Amino acid sequence: MPSNSLTVTDNRTGKSYELPITDGTVKAMDLRQIKTSDEDFGLMTYDPAFMNTAACRSAITFIDGDKGILEYRGFPIEELAERGTFLETAYLLLHGELPSKAQLEAYAKDIRYHTYVHTNIIKFLEGFRYDAHPMGTLLGVVGALSTFYPDAKDIGDPKNRYVQHIRLMAKLPTLAAFAFRHNRGLPYEFPSNDLGYIGNFVNMTFSIGGKHEPNKVLQRALEILLILHADHEQNCSTSAVRAVGSSHVDPFSAVSAGIAALYGPLHGGANEAVLRMLDEIDTKAGIPKFIESVKKGDGRLMGFGHRVYKSYDPRAKLIKKVAYDVFQQTGMNPKLEIAVELEQIALKDEYFIKRKLYPNVDFYSGLIYQAMGYPTDYFTVLFALGRLPGWLAQWEEMITDGEQKIARPRQVYTGPVRRPYVPVEKR
Ligand code: CMC
Repeated sequence: MPSNSLTVTDNRTGKSYELPITDGTVKAMDLRQIKTSDEDFGLMTYDPAFMNTAACRSAITFIDGDKGILEYRGFPIEELAERGTFLETAYLLLHGELPSKAQLEAYAKDIRYHTYVHTNIIKFLEGFRYDAHPMGTLLGVVGALSTFYPDAKDIGDPKNRYVQHIRLMAKLPTLAAFAFRHNRGLPYEFPSNDLGYIGNFVNMTFSIGGKHEPNKVLQRALEILLILHADHEQNCSTSAVRAVGSSHVDPFSAVSAGIAALYGPLHGGANEAVLRMLDEIDTKAGIPKFIESVKKGDGRLMGFGHRVYKSYDPRAKLIKKVAYDVFQQTGMNPKLEIAVELEQIALKDEYFIKRKLYPNVDFYSGLIYQAMGYPTDYFTVLFALGRLPGWLAQWEEMITDGEQKIARPRQVYTGPVRRPYVPVEKR
């Protein structure tokens, strides 16, 4: 008898089954053979929200939630954030290895070549109200890009997929900056291809009259934040990109679905929610009352808790450090003091200790974005810019994985049993 297996006895029938264990998992499909009769459909697993189901094999990102470890392709996030660049990280996520100097230059050049968007996109943007949430705008215009690039439908061709990867990496900063300026009624600033990836984006958001004085410390801080957000294995938005992409739709449409998922307050929208929460708390004196209300179940402590991390989120640790570098340049954000105190109080409170709730990536990031001059409703757009290489690498991995098929979960039907239609006059 193989030892790497699970023996299951069905007490309904008394029959036993031998299920192989591979990589710490049993295949849900192996349960289908367990039936009470020939007509029986067979056993399924029930796992709402995929709490304990691996939906793919992935070689991109490793997380140990108990130890607070995050690695991209085996490289610790701390080293990438301290020494790497965002474009090298994007290259690493896609190709699995850090680029040589020549490879990095070629990748950056490819991206620079594609930063412009078709000017019809501007007409499209003008249809949005002045106060449109920039995440709504972004998911709309990224989805619209699929109509400009019908060749993107050819997802079976690796060279074609690479072109779409480059287009998305190149154009998302332009679209994000256009959304920013639309909300302010400012004329759009077109890409400056003599600037780097981060410098160009910052210039497109903040340039006035064609001028913007770059602040290297703030630009590096933004780059670190983008690196920290670049991938996080099978989170909600990445799963959305994979599930939508599994229908073999083009990657612009799949990434647009990822942006929609990220928009939600339980995912990327949490950074925005943290700032609104700090506004509501208002002063340090307001913290105890707020904590009590959370413990009573009246709302959540935003920026705390994580499905995977049951200790300090390693990204939150790094971000807290970046916050102090940024505030040295911009002056202290008074909300930082409230955030630090809130963290201290929560970490000592039995409610949060018992549930293993620690600060996550979103707890401090919003304070930094605010100090850089970005408005609250723009924070999740910055998260999307960071997460794009992860979505694209995971999409590529899914498309080339022979074990994958169109995503199609099962259900347990709980509705009425079959019944006849009753004409309206008899109801
Ligand atoms: N504040 C107060 N209580 C919380 C919080 C929180 N932030 N998070 C979880 N809990 C409680 C929850 O009420 C539950 O308590 P009980 O067992 O008494 O019912 C317990 O902790 C477990 O919570 P859960 O909802 O089952 O946990 P989950 O894994 O489904 O949720 C989460 C993970 C991130 C959605 C959740 O922690 C949360 O809503 N946090 C606030 C929103 C947030 O900061 N999101 C950003 C996540 S990190 C960035 C990203 O990847 O998007």
